[in-house]
Amino acid sequence: MTLIDGYHHVTLSVDGAQEDNDFHTKTLGMKSVKKTVLFDGTAPVYHLYYGNETGDPSTIVTTFPFKKLGIYGKRGTNQSKIIQLAVPDGSAEFWLNRLGDAGIEAKKIDRFAATRVALEHPCGISYELVETSAVEDSRKPIVSPGISADYGIKGIYGIGIAVFDKSSMDDFLTIGMSFEALGGDGDALKFRTPSTGPGSVVEVLHEPNRPQGTWTLSGGTIHHLAFNTITEENQLALKAHLEGLGFTDVSDQKDRNYFKSCYVRSPSGALFELAFSYGKGWSQDEPEDKIGQVLQFPPWFAGRREEMEAGLEEFTWEN
Ligand SMILES: [Fe+2]
Repeated sequence: MTLIDGYHHVTLSVDGAQEDNDFHTKTLGMKSVKKTVLFDGTAPVYHLYYGNETGDPSTIVTTFPFKKLGIYGKRGTNQSKIIQLAVPDGSAEFWLNRLGDAGIEAKKIDRFAATRVALEHPCGISYELVETSAVEDSRKPIVSPGISADYGIKGIYGIGIAVFDKSSMDDFLTIGMSFEALGGDGDALKFRTPSTGPGSVVEVLHEPNRPQGTWTLSGGTIHHLAFNTITEENQLALKAHLEGLGFTDVSDQKDRNYFKSCYVRSPSGALFELAFSYGKGWSQDEPEDKIGQVLQFPPWFAGRREEMEAGLEEFTWEN
């Protein structure tokens, strides 16, 4: 059953909106794709989306900045651990220099024979820029001031998930999600989505000796990883398949205004999402050539706009 075509987006809870926006747009050179608010709960929290110019699925990283509310979680095992972004072959040195100039500590590492630059988001979450060849990943790099097409981020490469127990995640990924197992490297296992679409890797990192990480929405932790089912039919078929296997904690479908989502808690604790874009996507509420510049509220929050804006952190938008 191949109901997934790579990643749709990944989502993390961070600290300040300003430092998050500066990190993604200025340091990493990603584009602002949407500025909106968290749809769940009652407290006002931004929901910021970054990606390529057109906000293609598989390029999207989204954040919830929790500084104003002061809610922070614990990083640990049984939790998504590393945001991995694809960069062109041979670009590691460029990124080491660029990050160094920005005062961000970075080092070159290797896992599964792929060269990576390891760094941290200002809130402490681990990132890796993973070198991929143009054959392996043909997505167009994001070009921005100081970052040419030889070095730009292409989108999501994958996610590293820390786990107590590798075998239950192996079952979930291969039997539940129909991923392909690609073998191991030390204590890590690598998997790939069934399609060969861009942004397709999950790395399972065996870390049984660290304390349990936080699962709730809380600053400093990765919240979930979302896979692209392309259609509603695929999404509901995959939801039924997972429920049939006994993964009963699959949510009802939720309307995220630009896409629709179901969430499932994996055996490791990492939260997975099954998503598909619908309607006009990002241009649903603003012109296609001006996405991500003005704060947008979904229709159901129209009456709360003033109150929510008053509760949000002030910061200077960088597009
Ligand atoms: Fe999501």
